[in-house]
Amino acid sequence: MEKTPDDSKAEVIIRMFPSDANPAGNVFGGAILKHIDMVAGIVAQRFSQTNAVTVSMDKISFLKPVFVGNVLFVKARVNYVQKSSMEIEVNVEAEDIAKGTRVHTGNAYVTFVALDDNGKPTTVPTLRIDNPEDQKRFDEGKLRMERRLKERKK
Ligand SMILES: CC(C)(COP(=O)(O)OP(=O)(O)OC[C@H]1O[C@@H](n2cnc3c(N)ncnc32)[C@H](O)[C@@H]1OP(=O)(O)O)[C@@H](O)C(=O)NCCC(=O)NCCS
Repeated sequence: MEKTPDDSKAEVIIRMFPSDANPAGNVFGGAILKHIDMVAGIVAQRFSQTNAVTVSMDKISFLKPVFVGNVLFVKARVNYVQKSSMEIEVNVEAEDIAKGTRVHTGNAYVTFVALDDNGKPTTVPTLRIDNPEDQKRFDEGKLRMERRLKERKK
């Protein structure tokens, strides 16, 4: 079976509440990470159509602060797949409703592995690439995966 990146992409929109804040009053990075992992997981499960678990999160960047009251847009898509593993790219934007602004506040690469009913890695569909932009993401994802696996500690 083949699927394009668009077939499984996902976007979640969430309001940041005081319960998401750190002691300084801005949104806590861990609160954002939870949403990154959750939305990436939706993409991985949509793509593989089986249970998929997080095995690595890397290149996580918090570029700008997120404030309580902001509306967070968490967008994820699959860049690259191997046999059972999938690299999911996540981008985060924060909207200030009163100011009418939206800022790119962070990004991350999350690797998921598809599991069968016995909890063992299982083969995912082939990623079909139809345009140069997706090809670029695929090629860069392949390089990141090679680096990731070289640095992997068991
Ligand atoms: C997913 C899991 C079953 C894989 O077990 P494993 O012994 O590493 O299996 P393998 O070595 O056969 O690797 C399976 C695939 O995972 C990939 N993989 C494993 N660790 C990885 C890592 N740190 N980064 C990227 N890919 C990784 C392998 O490259 C392989 O990919 P491929 O099939 O596409 O070639 C196991 O790591 C696990 O259960 N981890 C916990 C996952 C979890 O519970 N996450 C929730 C948060 S705690």
